[in-house]
This record gives sequence, C-alpha cells and structure tokens, in this order.
Amino acid sequence: MTATAPTTVPTIVPTIVPNTVHAGVGDDPDALAGIYRDEVNLAVWQRQPDPSLAAEARWLLADQGFNGLKLTLPTARLASFDRFLPGLESCPRLRADLHLLSDMFSCLFDLQCVGLRLGALTSAMCPKFHVDRVTCRLICTYTGAGTEWLPNHSVDRGKLGVASGGLDDAASGLYPSPRAIQQLAAGDVALLKGEAWQGNEGAGLVHRSPAVETGQPRLLLTLDAM
Ligand SMILES: [Fe+2]
Repeated sequence: MTATAPTTVPTIVPTIVPNTVHAGVGDDPDALAGIYRDEVNLAVWQRQPDPSLAAEARWLLADQGFNGLKLTLPTARLASFDRFLPGLESCPRLRADLHLLSDMFSCLFDLQCVGLRLGALTSAMCPKFHVDRVTCRLICTYTGAGTEWLPNHSVDRGKLGVASGGLDDAASGLYPSPRAIQQLAAGDVALLKGEAWQGNEGAGLVHRSPAVETGQPRLLLTLDAM
C-alpha cells in the first residue's frame, strides 16, 4: 500500500494582538502628541545628549548630596517656577529643562497642577516589570541608565504582578527573550500611557527601573497629572 500525501494543509491563523503597541518616537517635541493615538502607549521625544544638562545632574548627585524633590506645581504659577525648586539654585540648565517639561506636560493635558518628582536613585525603584495605574506619566532620566520597557506584542500580561508566582522577570515567562527588552536613553522625554487612560485598560505600557550600576546613580524626573 502506497502512502499518499494529505490533500489539505493546516491553516495558520495569525494572532491579532489588540492594541498592539506602537511607540511613537521622534526627534521633535511634537512626537509627544502621538500619545493621543489609540494604538500608542509610549511616545518618546528623543533628544540629542546635552553635555551641560548631564553635567549638572551628575554634579548634583555626586557633590551636593541631593536626595530628591517632590512637589505639586500649580500650572498658573509656572512663571515663578524657580522658587519651587530648593537645592537647584546652582543648576540653571536643569531648572530650565524642568520648567520646559512641566509646561509642555501641563499644556498637552490641559492641567491645573503638575506633580513633580525629581529622584536621586542608587538602586532600582521598581525592579520588576509592571504597569502604572495612572492616565499618563512623563519620565526623563537626566543621568544614569534609562527606563526599560516591553512592546505589547512581546508581553504575556498573564505573568504580570502576583501572577508571576513570585518569579523574577527572567524566569516568569513574561517575555520570550531578553532581546525583547527596550530601553530609553538618558535625556529622552517619554510619555507612558497607563491603565487609567480611558480605553487603555489592559494595555498600559509595561516597564521597569533598570539596574543601577555602582557609582552611576540616576537622576529621574517624573511628572503626573494632579
Ligand atoms: Fe512605573
């Protein structure tokens, strides 16, 4: 008896991933407006490294013992921004950039107040991949390693949080390969769309703090809507 070839070929059905991430990336501040697109959960303004800005950030951490700043800024009073920033008197470039980004963030979302945190980090603040329960957060790392993130199509969200079973990210099956991990650069301005953005439930950007190398602390800005 002669075997015959099957007459039908199994059909491969493509998997459609809802709200597949598209990181809106550009070298112009207008790239940040891309966050309003439904299919985008990360918008990045990639900036050329600014040596004076990075130098001020390193000086602040290394020589001044800066240990962080947290405040709520009324957007109507951004013109008097400087007096809200104790400890940064000798960092004009950094003050100007904080002012610029706070102003852009408040304009983009028509905010009355901005929650500003400038953190001096010597260890990973949030070392496991997670999503934020916010509408949208702006982050910028002035010196040190940038935030790590995963594209939607590389994430098994069933392994996030307690569903990881206590396993670390590399062992939980959250992502298929370490090559899936993306990383922002120092100086980049990023908008991370969170779970509280209407219509983005279950699609918040998955991200984590990077490991901090000895002697290379991070100066990290986060801005939140208040
Ligand atoms: Fe986070």
